[in-house]
Amino acid sequence: IPVDRFDLVIFGGTGDLARRKILPGLYRRFCAGQMPDGARIIGAARSDLDRGAFQDMVRDAITEFGTGAPCEGATLDDFLETLDYMRVDARGEDGWDALKDMLRDDSDVVRAFYFSVGPGLFGDIAARLQSHGLATEDSRVVVEKPFGRDLGSARALNADLAQHFREDQIYRIDHYLGKETVQNLMAVRFGNVLFEPLWNAQFVDHIQITVAETVSVEGRGAYYDKSGAMRDMVQNHLMQLLCLIAMEPPSRFDPDAVRDEKLKVIRALAPVEPHHIVRGQYEAGGGVASYRDHAENPKSFTESFIALRCHIENWRWAGVPFYLRTGKRMKARMSEITVVFKPTRHSIFDIGEGEDVHSNMLHIRLQPNEGMTLDVTIKEPGPGGMRLVTVPLDMTFSEALGPEAEDVPDAYERLIMDVIRGNQTLFMRGDEVEAAWAWTDPIIAGWEARADVPKPYEPGSSGPEDALMLMHRDGRRWREIK
Ligand code: BG6
Repeated sequence: IPVDRFDLVIFGGTGDLARRKILPGLYRRFCAGQMPDGARIIGAARSDLDRGAFQDMVRDAITEFGTGAPCEGATLDDFLETLDYMRVDARGEDGWDALKDMLRDDSDVVRAFYFSVGPGLFGDIAARLQSHGLATEDSRVVVEKPFGRDLGSARALNADLAQHFREDQIYRIDHYLGKETVQNLMAVRFGNVLFEPLWNAQFVDHIQITVAETVSVEGRGAYYDKSGAMRDMVQNHLMQLLCLIAMEPPSRFDPDAVRDEKLKVIRALAPVEPHHIVRGQYEAGGGVASYRDHAENPKSFTESFIALRCHIENWRWAGVPFYLRTGKRMKARMSEITVVFKPTRHSIFDIGEGEDVHSNMLHIRLQPNEGMTLDVTIKEPGPGGMRLVTVPLDMTFSEALGPEAEDVPDAYERLIMDVIRGNQTLFMRGDEVEAAWAWTDPIIAGWEARADVPKPYEPGSSGPEDALMLMHRDGRRWREIK
């Protein structure tokens, strides 16, 4: 679906995120014919570049980081023609008036400002957009994570932005919400009659959410060491997955209806007991340096892995544990949600000693190999009497939907286009972010107060042994990471 014409200004236009994700993503949308004639992208940064040098930089970035099907028809040169550049000093007055002159004064042209910079600059940029008259009644601002590092700093950022922009102009990115399969969670839950009646404490034993990565923190050690898995992944991405899995059905698929329901989930989260959290840090192995080497901090106590058990204190989920885990340098890249249902309330079959009680499980694979598997119990074929066996009812989206399912826009592409469309459904609202920090802050404060030391784990493993114990103690098992 084509979008309106736009002027998109990217602050931090020469930075890492712009080069890796934003600009290659825009190029893909251009190739897909979604960028209308007259759409313009303006890089703004401190570097002393001219338009030609910026275009060269973007050409290199697309060559290096571009993904997806090759662009047919429209050439890279055509895309580069949509680009411009302005040298701007976020903390001074240079460049702002000239940037304003570049923007079109036309109410049919959407005006959006992408803050692809550290949160320390959000307030400065927002203020200058106002004082130099670049912001209009309808212009939009897009802000990246990390949105603060605790409740206090997130509140301060929200307050800074709120001085200059209304909430409906602010788009806080959590790129997990832009992933196709993450949105699919809502389609699966609320588009089928099968699941929702069972989606509660009466039928669900527990839910697992795993986001395992094989990458290390090499190259990002300085940022990561101040953040750790809790701030980098749990407070945002895993919380968003938890919200989508656990929320009540919104009355309609509209931004505030969806975000109201997500917020209720976060607010209903109970504080986490210290013995329900396992922190880990990867050691050296397999030819890769240890976390501490990557962080260049031999004494670092920052976690590169976390597993925790939490509870949502509401009618639907009373007593149902949610187990979350995420880590770097793990055995495989696997993001998956598993809903483990309770066994049937009475078994009419004899279950032999040592045989497993069969439970249905729904595995939702977010990446890679996107799809869903439902474990179903059937009779084991053969003459051996009524013995039960569990078999997978499996659907891989790319097989079910054909090649189109493979060529979907990546998260950034989709989210940027949603900004232009003015659709905030897949963006975090200020109160959501604050509520998420309000839940994570005491957990982090607890570690700091106890000087908690993360458990070492072998790279290429499933994390520290204690993480397995977290579930074993409850008589449950993690899904294998593979
Ligand atoms: C980012 C984190 O937000 O998400 C990274 O800062 C992490 O540490 C990344 O690797 C994971 O995203 P994806 O899309 O690769 O699952």
